[in-house]
Amino acid sequence: MQTALLDLSAHTVHLAGETDFAAWRDAARRLALAQIRPEDVAWRVGDEPNEGLPEPVPDSCLRVSREFVERAETVACHSDPERFALLYRMLWRMRSEPALLKIASDPDVRRFEAMEKSVRRDIHKMRAFVRFRMVGDDQRYVAWFEPEHFIVERNAPFFVRRFTGMSWSILTPFLCAHWDMTEVTFSPGAEKRDAPGDDAVEELWLTYYQNIFNPARLKMKAMQKEMPKKYWRNLPEAPLIPRLVAGADDAAKEMLARMPTVPAPHHAKVQARHWPADATPASENDGAEANSIAELRDAAKACRRCPLWRDATQTVFGEGPDKPDVVFVGEQPGDQEDLAGRPFVGPAGKVFDAVLGDAGIDRQKTYVTNAVKHFKFEPRGKRRIHSRPNAGEVQACRWWLDKELALAKPALVVALGATAALSLLGKAVPITKMRGQLVERDDGLRVFLTIHPSFILRIRDPDDKEAERARFLDDMLEVKKLLAA
Ligand code: URA
Repeated sequence: MQTALLDLSAHTVHLAGETDFAAWRDAARRLALAQIRPEDVAWRVGDEPNEGLPEPVPDSCLRVSREFVERAETVACHSDPERFALLYRMLWRMRSEPALLKIASDPDVRRFEAMEKSVRRDIHKMRAFVRFRMVGDDQRYVAWFEPEHFIVERNAPFFVRRFTGMSWSILTPFLCAHWDMTEVTFSPGAEKRDAPGDDAVEELWLTYYQNIFNPARLKMKAMQKEMPKKYWRNLPEAPLIPRLVAGADDAAKEMLARMPTVPAPHHAKVQARHWPADATPASENDGAEANSIAELRDAAKACRRCPLWRDATQTVFGEGPDKPDVVFVGEQPGDQEDLAGRPFVGPAGKVFDAVLGDAGIDRQKTYVTNAVKHFKFEPRGKRRIHSRPNAGEVQACRWWLDKELALAKPALVVALGATAALSLLGKAVPITKMRGQLVERDDGLRVFLTIHPSFILRIRDPDDKEAERARFLDDMLEVKKLLAA
């Protein structure tokens, strides 16, 4: 087939090497200027004389976009023997179709893009998976790698920059690159047996790899996508991976426990904005005289009723209309609420909003608040882990909740979870047993009990999660019925 093609082509260009883009460019220019059609040209690699290659045309100019030339240079590294013919065909077509590269549905463009992507990926893989081993006593490092495409020359400058201070060779089946700390040279391809086996450096690397392996970041699918199995055989650390993966859960827990407990600096900055040094102390304005929710909210900004204000970013007060039919009471603001200064805007808030929507309750017409107005957390590294408020903190913050309810005068209050129930009823109640029940307080306030939406978030099994969400929706439908009645 190939011989027939050769015989039929009036013009055969021989490039000196697989990646001889400069020669392709020169020949393509001459051929195009001489109006030689792509189907009349055969592109070969090998040290043979060209046949029918026109002489350069002096003073003539072929306009080609810089984008095409740059991308074509990448495509030229592809291992497909047809790549140079494709590039010339595209160059030819672009003279009458200047926007060809933008036509994503064009078969030539599709092929061009796929080749470009494949070469880029291979370049990236080589950077990630080359592993040097020391050879002999002369401090020379050698690596074996099997690229899919002709990318060794393209990638050599990267390794020079990365490993400038050591002498190295990267051996591949097609071409080898060598760096002697002065210049890069290339030699013909090698065999795997030319590359050295285990050595002391490898042991060091294995120890290093075990230490940098981050079990908390373990994502098996992404890992296999990034590190396809074909590369594993040349990676000294590959045999370690199954053991490290198997122990990842325990290792992640242990790592979390070992992490420093300093909150991220940006929390301190936001906190400083909300806690100015001259903030009104609670004793001066405790909200006792407040005539509206807005005044109450203002007073609560300087609350010092319990120590939680110290670490929290700001007071997260309730929000909603002044005279709502229903007040929802949660536990305490979470990480996102603490930073935003608004209740139920984080992950639990999203569940809450969605279920409320499904039940046909408009959140804008409800008042949403918390039993405790400051975020209580434990710092773990850069994360702040929610910590449940204790009975004393709940009691201290009842001051604000009582006042909110006294001003809002809702027909119904919904306790979302055990902490809200404790605050509203003054005693601990078994929420999973009592959920869905309506309790009337001595002062006549009706309190409907249900779970906290974060309970749904914590369920792992998808069926159980869905079932719990459905139960929560039933509770919200009941709330809607109670309001209608
Ligand atoms: N959980 C709560 O109880 N309240 C919030 O505002 C957010 C999460």
